[in-house]
Amino acid sequence: MLQKRKFLAWMLVFAAVMIFVAIAVAAPKRVLTAKGGDCAACHGQEKVLSPSHVDTKDMTYKDCLGCHDRAGPQKLTGKLPGSHVHQLTGITCAKCHGKGKKEEAVSMDTCVTCHNPDRLVEKTARVKPENPHTSPHYGNTLDCNACHHQHQKSEDFCAQCHKFNFKVP
Ligand code: HEC
Ligand code: HEC
Ligand code: HEC
Ligand code: HEC
Ligand code: HEC
Ligand code: HEC
Repeated sequence: MLQKRKFLAWMLVFAAVMIFVAIAVAAPKRVLTAKGGDCAACHGQEKVLSPSHVDTKDMTYKDCLGCHDRAGPQKLTGKLPGSHVHQLTGITCAKCHGKGKKEEAVSMDTCVTCHNPDRLVEKTARVKPENPHTSPHYGNTLDCNACHHQHQKSEDFCAQCHKFNFKVP
């Protein structure tokens, strides 16, 4: 009887350890040297693409767009965190966070060194029902990070008050 109870106790400890290991393994790592297309380098065994998906290891974002056309039904808008799209276009962690520094939130000042706000307003001038990059309230000065997130799903800031249903990349 005692033997059996001991055995059960050990089984419980073993199960707890296995669950801990599974969680630790499942969390993606931020490997600074990984290529954007090399999902496994950071995601490990976790399957972030279907098993039948083409090998993306050496691809850039341009290669992805060959199949995932920006306007087509297979478009990737909102499917990947923003940092992934940047990494795939060659914009590494350091280009936003600075080199050799501890990574912290990145301000809009950094975004606009590459993305000119006036040009953005022109680029999305035809988006319906309203242009997300300008409004009577904020002009073109609203913080990019209010909508675009780099490490989590982006959001539609205007949805607090309007039903524009923006699909934010
Ligand atoms: C040869 C064409 C092709 C290329 C190149 C390609 N994909 Fe795909 N991708 C597909 C197809 C087809 C699907 C849908 C079936 C599937 O999941 O395998 C898909 C599905 C996906 C999905 C899941 C979409 C969803 O709706 O959940 C993601 C994410 C994705 N691809 C990312 C990428 C990335 C990132 C790249 C470039 C590094 C890339 N793909 C390159 C054809 C391609
Ligand atoms: C396009 C700019 C950009 C790129 C590229 C980028 N980040 Fe970030 N990062 C941000 C922003 C903005 C935040 C603030 C949180 C957010 O918006 O998701 C942030 C937050 C962080 C944080 C602190 C908060 C958190 O979410 O843990 C860490 C750590 C981090 N980034 C690491 C990285 C690493 C590592 C890479 C490369 C794999 C990377 N970042 C690529 C913009 C970027
Ligand atoms: C070092 C230059 C650089 C910096 C800094 C940068 N970006 Fe980008 N960003 C790019 C490039 C290059 C692309 C891909 C080109 C394109 O849009 O066709 C891109 C693409 C994007 C896209 C489009 C993604 C998609 O799915 O089509 C968004 C949104 C974006 N950036 C937002 C931001 C935000 C927000 C920040 C600041 C936190 C930022 N970027 C900082 C260069 C940069
Ligand atoms: C109110 C939310 C919101 C804010 C704030 C915002 N964006 Fe956007 N952005 C969007 C939406 C929605 C789209 C997609 C538009 C579409 O449907 O084509 C977009 C698209 C983009 C694109 C892709 C444009 C293209 O067509 O190639 C880039 C790059 C971008 N945003 C960068 C930025 C930067 C940089 C800032 C800050 C200066 C910013 N955005 C502020 C909502 C926002
Ligand atoms: C440099 C390391 C790195 C690479 C390379 C990478 N990822 Fe990620 N991925 C992460 C991290 C870390 C997160 C958690 C969010 C964040 O910090 O950006 C994440 C989050 C995600 C998410 C969102 C998961 C969720 O629960 O919402 C998807 C989807 C994803 N990755 C798909 C991919 C695909 C597909 C590829 C290959 C084309 C890829 N990742 C390559 C590190 C990476
Ligand atoms: C805190 C609530 C709130 C937020 C957030 C907000 N709006 Fe508004 N917006 C309003 C109100 C209220 C009105 C109506 C004002 C009026 O009619 O005089 C309005 C009016 C407008 C109008 C004029 C509409 C018309 O028919 O004249 C536009 C365009 C607009 N908003 C765009 C935006 C965009 C784009 C965003 C996101 C970047 C946004 N708003 C975020 C509350 C908000």
